[in-house]
Amino acid sequence: MANRTSGKRKKIEKAPSRVSRKSSRQERRKSPPPVLIAHPAAPGKHFLSDKVSHFTESVIREMTRQAMLYGAVNLAQGFPDFSAPAEIKQAAQQAVAADVNQYAITWGAENLRNAIARQMGVWQGITVDPEKEITVCCGSTEAMISTLLAVCNAGDEVVIFEPFYENYGPDSVLSGAKPKFVKLRPPTKDGGEWTFDEKELRRAFDKHTKAIILNTPNNPTGKVFTRTELELIRDLCVEFDVLAITDEIYEHILYEGTEHISMVSLDGMRERTVTINGMSKTYSVTGWRVGWAVAPEKITNAIRKVHDFLTVGAPAPLQEAGAAALSLPAEYYAKLAEGYRVRRDHLMPALTAAGFKCFRPRGAYYVMTDISAFGFKDDVSFAKYLVQEIGVACVPGSSFYRDPRDGARQVRFAFCKKPETLDEAARRLAKLQER
Ligand SMILES: Cc1ncc(COP(=O)(O)O)c(C=O)c1O
Repeated sequence: MANRTSGKRKKIEKAPSRVSRKSSRQERRKSPPPVLIAHPAAPGKHFLSDKVSHFTESVIREMTRQAMLYGAVNLAQGFPDFSAPAEIKQAAQQAVAADVNQYAITWGAENLRNAIARQMGVWQGITVDPEKEITVCCGSTEAMISTLLAVCNAGDEVVIFEPFYENYGPDSVLSGAKPKFVKLRPPTKDGGEWTFDEKELRRAFDKHTKAIILNTPNNPTGKVFTRTELELIRDLCVEFDVLAITDEIYEHILYEGTEHISMVSLDGMRERTVTINGMSKTYSVTGWRVGWAVAPEKITNAIRKVHDFLTVGAPAPLQEAGAAALSLPAEYYAKLAEGYRVRRDHLMPALTAAGFKCFRPRGAYYVMTDISAFGFKDDVSFAKYLVQEIGVACVPGSSFYRDPRDGARQVRFAFCKKPETLDEAARRLAKLQER
């Protein structure tokens, strides 16, 4: 009975007459907005994290926007302007049509993990367990940050060679670690190599060092680390109990018979290497966002957890296409490298003729250049001039260094472009000689 009564009362309160609803609306309109006052115990908070406050916008991606704004030929960002292989596009289409449209297994579709393990065997002679040692991620970019988040604690240090691919610094900071930079020095004579000082590298290692990030073939320098160099790094990793995190995304883009050696294949490194790779560069599909990390089981477990909470998983149909891509015959890779050799040899003479000093890459698809001859204040003012007045976008060298002054005489060009794009760039670059 009591219930029925209270129910009735509620009903009356909830359904006021049309007249009273209207008047309360008018009242609301008339009443001044409430004054919200912060609690005195919590004044003056700022909403941005300290980590992010030091980050600048990606210079590489900003240069792509500038290229679009000024109608410039975009030799800044490293994405191909030509088609991806027909076979793998078909494989992606078929996967979508066959309804591979829901979440894949968080750590990667079985077909793709099996293909990665098989090819690590073929290319590096490494036996990998696809069930326990591979995590497929949203690009190698995510594989890198997931790895660093999985292995670093506050106070850890990560050694990075510079010039470096611009994500590595922020990746280390996001994971709570402190980046420690070691210089790669440009060749002093034509056709020479980028080198590092062994003593400087040794000084970067101490009891706080958790990992070294190694990118070979290297962006932006085109350096391919030799066995001797890798062994030296290996010895330091073993001595200081350090992990090697190797970004090998340009593994198949090599020139003049240069050999790519995976750090994981060196004696003593199987248990302390995370090998990162992906589809973006090898199969010309930078927008697909499929990459992976190969690591010993314990580390893989940690990477998988981070990856799961960050992204749940990489695109399912594109992972199936990835399995098809990794089944392409050896000729595919030979053609890929030869295609890039032709492009490199197309762009470099045009750059040299225009007044750049080029550092000849042994791998990857970039050429780092010295711009001293043009007499500009720095790389940023030169890059601005180049995009706005000459109509070619490049990346200012300073974006690859911790101290911008170290890159003030350098800019980087990407040559993963069609011959006609490179022709047009060459035509425009020639205008530099008319200044
Ligand atoms: C060295 C290096 N690592 C990683 C990436 C990004 O790879 P992904 O597209 O797989 O995230 C790039 C792209 O330019 C790169 O140069």
